[in-house]
Amino acid sequence: MKDYEGKTAKPCLILALETSCDETSASVVADGRTILSDVISSQIPVHQKFGGVVPEIASRKHIENVIPVVDEALRVAKVTLSDITAIGVTYGPGLVGALLVGVSVAKALSFAADKPLIGVNHLEGHIFANFLSHPELEPPFMALVVSGGHTSLVYVEGYNKFDLLGQTRDDAAGEAFDKIARVMKLPYPGGPYIDRLAKTGNPEAIAFPRALTGRDNFEFSFSGLKSAVLNYLNSAALRGEEVNKADVAASFQAAVVDVLVSKVLQAARKQAVKKIVLAGGVAANSELKLKLEHECAQAGITLYYPETILCTDNAAMIACRAYYQHLIGEYADLHLNAIPSLKLGGKKCR
Ligand code: KG4
Ligand code: ZN
Repeated sequence: MKDYEGKTAKPCLILALETSCDETSASVVADGRTILSDVISSQIPVHQKFGGVVPEIASRKHIENVIPVVDEALRVAKVTLSDITAIGVTYGPGLVGALLVGVSVAKALSFAADKPLIGVNHLEGHIFANFLSHPELEPPFMALVVSGGHTSLVYVEGYNKFDLLGQTRDDAAGEAFDKIARVMKLPYPGGPYIDRLAKTGNPEAIAFPRALTGRDNFEFSFSGLKSAVLNYLNSAALRGEEVNKADVAASFQAAVVDVLVSKVLQAARKQAVKKIVLAGGVAANSELKLKLEHECAQAGITLYYPETILCTDNAAMIACRAYYQHLIGEYADLHLNAIPSLKLGGKKCR
């Protein structure tokens, strides 16, 4: 077996699988923080022509891809299944059919190779991606999880202790990016395209609303903002006016970013923590990182976010989370099932 970083003691190797949405991913991580492999087979091109993820197609593609992806993850890591200490898998939240593919394969591998099974919450995985990018990072910290399906503020008190302070009442931040991009005829997923287009626009050109901005209100709402942008685009179309798409993108993005930045800073102040951690696909947004970096510097807070490849769905973050569950003996049995609406820090998977 490969020695990593010159270590001779036998490392704890977690093989993890991630199939909650539209990426089939498998990874081997050593001692929780060293990525030996992170293979991601993206289905984005398959779903792009539908303008969003088609759940049934996602499940079928996972079935086709999952075994080759696991084989590749073991091959790249230069290990075999018998070298693996435990097997981690995302069991929620996500698309039920997609989750079931990963869960079934992980259970089969765990049974066949007689390795412990660890059920991982996808959202906790997103937060833990930061431990892979920042070896020095340790709890406690305030985490802002912003993805295609979720927008949540989480106080991470310890590796296994989370407190959900608030989440979105309606659309997730990434979902709003994707829906606005779709009406602006940008490809799926729209977040990166809006991000790029916004760079040439004026963020103050259009005053889009910011919702639930009251003090110590840690809930989010993006559906009003989405409607405001749609109304703006529709009214312009009715009047036969050409809109400046870059200004719309920049003004919409500024409205999302303003709310995210102000809430996470308020939450950090409230819990008196000096570290903020960004997680999830929208953590790749350049304006969010820029504005948060600026505000954190002013407030004497250190900001962490994962490198871009670890922001979007990947199995390395699931392996990292699984490692810390392994340390406290939090294993699942072969009754492990997919839980599409699993809450953060919620039901344990025994
Ligand atoms: O975490 P993720 O890969 O999947 C979920 O668990 O949902 O996040 C995907 C989301 C999509 O909505 C995508 O548009 C958004 O992350 N995203 C971005 C950027 N890159 C990805 N949103 C804004 N700016 C970006 N640069
Ligand atoms: Zn995700």
